[in-house]
Amino acid sequence: MLRYLDAGESHGQALTAIVEGLPAGVPLTEDYINIQLARRQGGYGRGGRMQIEKDTVRITSGVRGGLTTGGPVCLVVENRDWANWAEIMAPGPEARIDERVVTKPRPGHADLGGAIKYDQRDMRNILERASARETAARVAVGAAARALLDRFGIMITGHVVRVGSISANPAGLTPEEILRRAAGSELMCADPAAEEQMKQEIDRARGEGDSLGGIFEVIVSGLPVGLGSHVHYDRKLDGMLARAVMSIQAIKGIEFGIGFKAGERPGSQVHDELFYNPDQGFYRETNRAGGLEGGVTNGEPVVLRAVMKPIPTLYKPLKSVDFVTKEPYEASVERSDVCAVPAAAVVGEAAVAFEIARALLEKFGGDSLAEIKRNYESYMEHVKLV
Ligand SMILES: Cc1cc2nc3c(=O)[nH]c(=O)nc-3n(C[C@H](O)[C@H](O)[C@H](O)COP(=O)(O)O)c2cc1C
Repeated sequence: MLRYLDAGESHGQALTAIVEGLPAGVPLTEDYINIQLARRQGGYGRGGRMQIEKDTVRITSGVRGGLTTGGPVCLVVENRDWANWAEIMAPGPEARIDERVVTKPRPGHADLGGAIKYDQRDMRNILERASARETAARVAVGAAARALLDRFGIMITGHVVRVGSISANPAGLTPEEILRRAAGSELMCADPAAEEQMKQEIDRARGEGDSLGGIFEVIVSGLPVGLGSHVHYDRKLDGMLARAVMSIQAIKGIEFGIGFKAGERPGSQVHDELFYNPDQGFYRETNRAGGLEGGVTNGEPVVLRAVMKPIPTLYKPLKSVDFVTKEPYEASVERSDVCAVPAAAVVGEAAVAFEIARALLEKFGGDSLAEIKRNYESYMEHVKLV
């Protein structure tokens, strides 16, 4: 089974992730992972921290000579700003824990609930871990999963389809075109006209001290039919993807295919009809289901969208109450993103990559890439004969 754990604080020494269950023989390099880390840091609307961060990964185990060994892969992303935080964040008794104490909970963050639950007076002990800085680890893990998916021609494409009130219209574009257009866009948006309007909306929000959310889409193409399973709730791939994406900071909803529109339309305009011809086998002319029926991939691309709430740290202060004095105050801001939907899309791609890789290994399990390939090819022969 493919699994991972990650650890690390926003201003801690490093983020660390251990990925266990990757087979032997998968090409994986630090450069390959760094491409994804750099993508997470980009995007119009980001705050000052992105300038200091410049994340790169160190692979400290599980890879030798550019190939996975089958052992746990340990990924370390150092904090470039650690020197400025070492005295405050040190794990030993020397830490200056009475400096930069946070007693003012920020609305929209884990600060207040976390402080009550973990019985902490200094909310730094909550916000350091709740921060979306952790998503750098998830992106590194997702890149390792992606290295496996590459071997099976499975492609993951994320793009931004909405920022605030502006929607993109990528209808009619293939995943390859979306990928190419999104790669050349500061907002990861495949619709240049919409992108311009999105930028204006972000500038306006910045000027007003406000923030914006939006929606990103992830498309997985090149999938075989039969990943996931209908037999049990915790093996349904839609459920696993939803959990992985919903657990990303600030993500508040997810839909597959036509998603929530399915509740507005009659069944005749929702379900994808089935056809057959001897060259293609079974096929559909529509993909309203978003590639999943009964928790199983149906051979069509998986298409999911997630909504991100606006960044909760606003330059225009929101009202809150001091945890200790119980006095009201207005939350002030040092440095924050105005809009991070493109970055969230990169994290979404990573979360999806990991779940798809897990489902792939569950279906074609083996200890080496060669063994998994054999299992995959024999299954694809079976699919052809159906
Ligand atoms: C890529 C990314 C970047 C983010 N950047 C910020 C930020 O700069 N400032 C902020 O207040 N929240 C930011 N967030 C959102 C918060 O981390 C998140 O809203 C908060 O931890 C509360 O979690 P919840 O929204 O899931 O309930 C970001 C989220 C993501 C995915």
